[in-house]
Amino acid sequence: MPDKTITGSEKTEIQVSSAARQPAQTQAPSRPDPSRYVGTPAVGTSKAAAAAGLSSAGPQNTVLDQRRRRLVWSCVVAFLSAWFIAFFRFFLPRVLFEPATVFKIGYPSDYALGIDEKWLQRYRIWVDRTPDRLFVIYARCTHLGCTPDWKPAENKFKCPCHGSGYDNEGINFEGPAPRPMDRARIELAPDGQIVVDVGRLYSWPKGQRDQFNDPGAYLSV
Ligand code: FES
Repeated sequence: MPDKTITGSEKTEIQVSSAARQPAQTQAPSRPDPSRYVGTPAVGTSKAAAAAGLSSAGPQNTVLDQRRRRLVWSCVVAFLSAWFIAFFRFFLPRVLFEPATVFKIGYPSDYALGIDEKWLQRYRIWVDRTPDRLFVIYARCTHLGCTPDWKPAENKFKCPCHGSGYDNEGINFEGPAPRPMDRARIELAPDGQIVVDVGRLYSWPKGQRDQFNDPGAYLSV
């Protein structure tokens, strides 16, 4: 088959079209089109955004975001604080602070005849002075342990829980109390003051000998 003869105008067209195609082959790879990303890139994806030539700035810092962030940080701080307190509390000794069982209550001459209630709140005792003795009644009902009330008008102690009654020396005479109220040990200190020890009590168990006349159960006055 005879070759087709190319005319001068056709040569020129071929050269122009090949010249037009040439730049497309040698063109350097273009950057990714930012519009390929859907929506606004999130804050924190700055590498991808920077590679794409996008700004890494996120959405506006709204008041709601700030509140959420503050709430989260508050929770974190509260949790860590509680944890640290519990951690250090573990190393503290577990001590129960109770009132002293041995204490001074002044001089015998400070007490007149009858019942003195000034130490009831602090030490749970009454100081009872008779014409020849001074002793200390421990203010605990012998039924179930309530604190009786002193009734000066009736000259007796009355338990508010179940109605036990005691005379002015703490001897039970009515109600369910099984025995008189106990008495605390007392003695005179070198300075002449009365020292009371509620850790050592004298009692009168039902059907047994009373300990109220034992040394230490009273002071002679
Ligand atoms: S506790 Fe006092 S009468 Fe029961």
